[in-house]
Amino acid sequence: MLTGKQIREKYLRFFESKQHLILPSASLIPENDPSLLLIGAGMAPFKAFFTGKMQPPSPRIVTCQKCIRTGDIENVGRTARHHTFFEMLGNFSFGDYFKKEAITWAWEFVTDPQWLGIPAEKMWVTVHPTDDEAFEIWHKVVGLPTERIVKLEDNFWEIGQGPCGPDSEMFVDLGAERGCGSPTCGVGCDCDRYLEIWNLVFTQFNKEEDGSYTPLAKKNIDTGAGLERITSVLQNKRSNFETDLIFPIIEYAQNLATVKYGDAEKSDVSLKVIADHARSMTVMIGDGVLPSNEGRGYVLRRILRRAVRHGKLIGIKELFLGGAVQTVFNIFQDVYPEIEE
Ligand code: SER
Repeated sequence: MLTGKQIREKYLRFFESKQHLILPSASLIPENDPSLLLIGAGMAPFKAFFTGKMQPPSPRIVTCQKCIRTGDIENVGRTARHHTFFEMLGNFSFGDYFKKEAITWAWEFVTDPQWLGIPAEKMWVTVHPTDDEAFEIWHKVVGLPTERIVKLEDNFWEIGQGPCGPDSEMFVDLGAERGCGSPTCGVGCDCDRYLEIWNLVFTQFNKEEDGSYTPLAKKNIDTGAGLERITSVLQNKRSNFETDLIFPIIEYAQNLATVKYGDAEKSDVSLKVIADHARSMTVMIGDGVLPSNEGRGYVLRRILRRAVRHGKLIGIKELFLGGAVQTVFNIFQDVYPEIEE
């Protein structure tokens, strides 16, 4: 069975073999971008390369980017997939390759037994209803049957102002037993059956301050694959929290608590919140964020407080965040050297 660390490494090596330059994750603190509080996507540090304001060191780049998203913080621990911190695998083309390469390489990486080897018959994809080009590539070049290529209006990716475009998402069918059983259940349903693992964005517009879309001088590719989700599929786990990327933190916390993972839904939520928040606080502090009353520092302070509160809820009496951070450090050793520094 592949470890989370091996999957991260395989992804970087695969795209290196397709002439991509491997860059380390950028800091969570955005550089020269007042529109963002924290980096929340693999493409965010590269906005100026997409718009042409700056020259990238290579027209093809691949990264594993640390990401913080707190918009869904109340759902963290309640679902199999919500996190405030996650790792986004991304390959990027700045005016170089476009849809055909992005799609066929994603397919090769996901399904080829030499790479991830997820069975092709479990894969579904979505495209924007107007994107005939992507539809044809999935159908004619990759060979996906048309009934597994779903057209969804939602398939347009943007994050405030900046580079954006229509996208195509890849889903794994985890089986009917994971579904809600509704006759309308399908790709895009909220239940756990179809898991989105990768988003391929065809970045061809810039969203302006006034909300309008200007075509970019060059067409680009921005992709984002969730490392924790892919790991859950390959490790056959029902939740990202049960993968080797996160579970050791739950084990650490349950050893200090009066509960064990699996005892009850409510205490499981607390264990998962602690695990998630321990990851977030470790990487944020590693990048130089410190608790404060505003901005990024306030995000961190809130995360620290929530983790402490959930520790109390499951009977932890002693100070425990230091040990949780140490556990995160052990998992991320050699991956994010800034945590040790
Ligand atoms: N920017 C896209 C996302 O965050 C793909 O990387 O989903």
